[in-house]
Amino acid sequence: MKYAKITGTGSYLPKQVFTNADWEKRVNTSDAWIVERTGIKSRHIASENETATMMGANAALNALNMANVNAKDIQLVIVATGTPDKIFPATACLIQKQLQIPTCIAFDIQAACSGFVYALSIADQYIKSGVIKRALIIGTEVMSRLIDWQDRNTCVLFGDGAGACVLEASDSPGILSTHLYADGNYNDILYVDMPSGKEPCYIHMQGQKVFKLAVAKLGELVKDTLQFHNIKSEDIDWLVPHQANIRIIKATADKLKLPMEKVICTVEAHSNTSSASIPLALDIGIRDGRIKKGQTLLLEAIGGGMTWGSALVKY
Ligand SMILES: CC(C)(COP(=O)(O)OP(=O)(O)OC[C@H]1O[C@@H](n2cnc3c(N)ncnc32)[C@H](O)[C@@H]1OP(=O)(O)O)[C@@H](O)C(=O)NCCC(=O)NCCS
Repeated sequence: MKYAKITGTGSYLPKQVFTNADWEKRVNTSDAWIVERTGIKSRHIASENETATMMGANAALNALNMANVNAKDIQLVIVATGTPDKIFPATACLIQKQLQIPTCIAFDIQAACSGFVYALSIADQYIKSGVIKRALIIGTEVMSRLIDWQDRNTCVLFGDGAGACVLEASDSPGILSTHLYADGNYNDILYVDMPSGKEPCYIHMQGQKVFKLAVAKLGELVKDTLQFHNIKSEDIDWLVPHQANIRIIKATADKLKLPMEKVICTVEAHSNTSSASIPLALDIGIRDGRIKKGQTLLLEAIGGGMTWGSALVKY
């Protein structure tokens, strides 16, 4: 049986760091409130030239280097983003051009903060079925262009960045399973309207509803994922969650009875970078030596839609 295996990861964070103290100067908030409610202390904010394409291409280059894969051998590029540079062409095509990847399959997907897990799942199907051998999966977001800089309810929560993975066909286990869900009945608790050219478009969120749904759905999701494989929490080496809020992350870890020492957390320094948050956390955990070859990782995310999903991965 063929598996899709993660053979390289990479990330890119904008140069500018924006702390809670910087937000205190702009809106009626406090470092204490933000840290207590979310665990966030700072986030990276993109400059004009740090676009979804630029950040995604840089993250992808780092992933290709780690995997020791030449860009010309990539057969599929999937970019998960809610903040593309253009409505079309897809950011995937712009990154393909930048990295000089020859003619291949390239497209963007939109599943909000669950985008990376969705992209991973799609690429997994292409590889497992033998259609392709090598894929590049990227989450890249310029959330700072979607926030209302006057709205303290949302502006402090989000940041910019990109993460990427190279996936290659392998005979040894890689992605063990993915589990994707969506329920459009919740479309109005977290959304951004289509730009009409008349009014600016911002993130709208009913924070408490999103919070409660996230805790409930992610709790079910991680338990179901373990049950699907008939494995226990002890079999998970690392939980690599979407980084929206430390309290949501802790609630999911608690559900698994997993100590926080086994959770890769970047929310304090990155805030919520939507579809970029999981590949960013994965890259950091791998590069600092915590995540080792052969370990079992549980990835999970929830986002606008509402969409949610998990992946069980042998690294
Ligand atoms: C957004 C969130 C942190 C708010 O925390 P909360 O405990 O639910 O807070 P509430 O929304 O009930 O607001 C409580 C008070 O804090 C205020 N407040 C909101 N944002 C604030 C800020 N940045 N600084 C200070 N006060 C703030 C509210 O106005 C409200 O004031 P009021 O009681 O005078 O009306 C929390 O709901 C959350 O994390 N939700 C999930 C968000 C998320 O993860 N989204 C992305 C999913 S992918």
